[in-house]
Amino acid sequence: MKSRIAAALLAATLIGLGIAATVRAAEPAVVGSAEAGATKAAVCAACHGATGSSVNPEWPNLAGQHHEYIAEQLNLLKSVVRVAPVMNPMAAALSPQDMADLAAHFEAQTPAGLEADPALWQAGQKLYRGGDAARGIPACSGCHGPNGRGNGPARWPQIRGQQPVYVTNQLHAYAAKTRYAAVAGQPPAPAGAELMYDIAKRLGEDDIKSLVAYLQGLR
Ligand code: HEC
Ligand code: HEC
Repeated sequence: MKSRIAAALLAATLIGLGIAATVRAAEPAVVGSAEAGATKAAVCAACHGATGSSVNPEWPNLAGQHHEYIAEQLNLLKSVVRVAPVMNPMAAALSPQDMADLAAHFEAQTPAGLEADPALWQAGQKLYRGGDAARGIPACSGCHGPNGRGNGPARWPQIRGQQPVYVTNQLHAYAAKTRYAAVAGQPPAPAGAELMYDIAKRLGEDDIKSLVAYLQGLR
């Protein structure tokens, strides 16, 4: 079982490098300005909060999220490859420069942090750090890092301090393969999504509850 996890992590690293290389080759480098992004973020504040910490458990926190991941997701939300009816129209008018500026702004914000659920976080921490070899679930920390900070160039998102309903919804969407859709003429879903399809479908509802409880308090 150990070797299967090791293989998953090695594959993840290779895929991570592959994504970074593909994106660099396919897109002209757009350098974001956090200052310009702060002005452009006024329209995002109603849902994501002025400093990227949202007040609704369904709306993701963006504070401290990697700019590579934010810009990539905005592009996927604009093209509706990532299916999110509330967010798709918000991304529709953004240019690549807007996406880069907004990404730089939100990455520079400090997450406010939420509190872990005292009844559930210990089970969540166990799964997050150790996985469950018997069920083929790798440790989340292998990719998202010991503190949930992820890795920008590899496109492994930060998941610490994330809103609980948002995380639950995303894990369900990965398991059902509904987070992304194929859209003619648009880029495909990120290669890394395949990893989460595989992992999320092995999680039961109790696993998700405890992971979410742990993640919201992770700093
Ligand atoms: C009306 C509320 C609303 C507004 C305004 C809004 N968003 Fe969102 N945003 C959402 C919701 C809801 C989601 C989660 C979508 C889903 O379920 O997949 C989301 C998701 C995102 C994501 C993906 C986060 C992740 O972790 O994958 C990014 C990036 C994002 N929004 C950026 C922005 C930016 C930049 C703006 C301003 C231009 C903005 N949003 C405006 C509601 C909003
Ligand atoms: C092998 C590497 C790997 C492992 C292990 C892994 N993830 Fe992920 N995770 C990813 C990648 C890559 C993405 C981004 C996929 C995409 O682009 O949609 C991601 C995305 C996510 C997201 C969506 C973040 C957002 O802001 O929308 C959540 C939530 C998540 N992972 C939770 C977990 C949990 C919980 C575990 C452990 C049970 C886990 N991951 C294990 C690589 C991994």
